[in-house]
Amino acid sequence: MQHWLSLLDAEPAELAGLIAAARRLKAGETALAAALHRRILTMVFFNPSLRTRVSFEAAMLRNGGHAVCLDVGGNSWKLEHRDGAVMNGDAAEHIREAAPVLSRYGDALAVRTFAGLRSAREDADDAVIRAFGRFATVPVINMESAMEHPCQGLADWMTVDEKLRGTRGRRFVLSWAPQVKGLPMAVPHSAMLAAAAAGMHVTVAHPPGYELHAAMLDRARSWCAAANTEFAVTHDQHAACRTADVVYVKSWGSAAMYADPAAQTTSFREHAGWMMNVDRLAPRAILMHCLPVRRNVVIADAALDDPRCVVVDQAENRMWVQVAILARLLSTGGKTPARSSS
Ligand code: CP
Repeated sequence: MQHWLSLLDAEPAELAGLIAAARRLKAGETALAAALHRRILTMVFFNPSLRTRVSFEAAMLRNGGHAVCLDVGGNSWKLEHRDGAVMNGDAAEHIREAAPVLSRYGDALAVRTFAGLRSAREDADDAVIRAFGRFATVPVINMESAMEHPCQGLADWMTVDEKLRGTRGRRFVLSWAPQVKGLPMAVPHSAMLAAAAAGMHVTVAHPPGYELHAAMLDRARSWCAAANTEFAVTHDQHAACRTADVVYVKSWGSAAMYADPAAQTTSFREHAGWMMNVDRLAPRAILMHCLPVRRNVVIADAALDDPRCVVVDQAENRMWVQVAILARLLSTGGKTPARSSS
């Protein structure tokens, strides 16, 4: 594993190995994390974060390493990623220089860069995270990009595995929810892919017009087929949730409305009834969300405060899967930063 950019680059068995490692780490098997000792992770944030930032810092510090945090356009330069760009705008530095320079200082790079939500085709290219992958000389970790949030997907898988004592054959429903503004599809893509890779039956429930990216749907469908599980897309949230073991709630925007925020807001209002509440949860189901969550817009208080809700455990598991990912990268693809000759 050279970089950790996309679940599409991995096989389900490899992901299952990371889940097993994360569970052993959480159970106290510290030797697995030896690869993080005296290593430096440089984190580059184009967008805000609570969990990702602190869980990565904690992962490094708890295991004898160190983390450096850059906020692009805040405590660091704005960065350009386009080949051939005439840099006469806000961006003072190109990723072609920034990525190799940061690779000389630290042992791994982690990048958060959200979707622009201007063009579905542009977002599908995931150009910023791919540019870091091209120009860095140390492993690069996706901390949520335009298309995927693979660390979140693994934490989701680990949480279901813990709570339901296994994932194979469980019924996973990804249930769309309204919002106050358009949001990217990275989390729903990764949650769906992780559920399919984990051997669950997967149903994606959303109103018409909120289709996820075709390549992601295709991969989830093919992983389900390989695992001999069902894959379905439905517009009937109530029916989908009725038999679910896992109800994973997430808001995302409609690609057809990227250019029309007013239409998107109206559509969210029209679908306010998709807000998750306890009436839709089976007695033994668990309720998941990646956080942050807008209470009483995305999920009602009663559901978030219900014992079936596991969002805090889910957030904790980000740290354990990230130690597993870092350990894998730093012990296999990881290397001492390249040095120039004097
Ligand atoms: N789930 C998640 O990535 O949270 P943050 O945006 O707070 O990092």
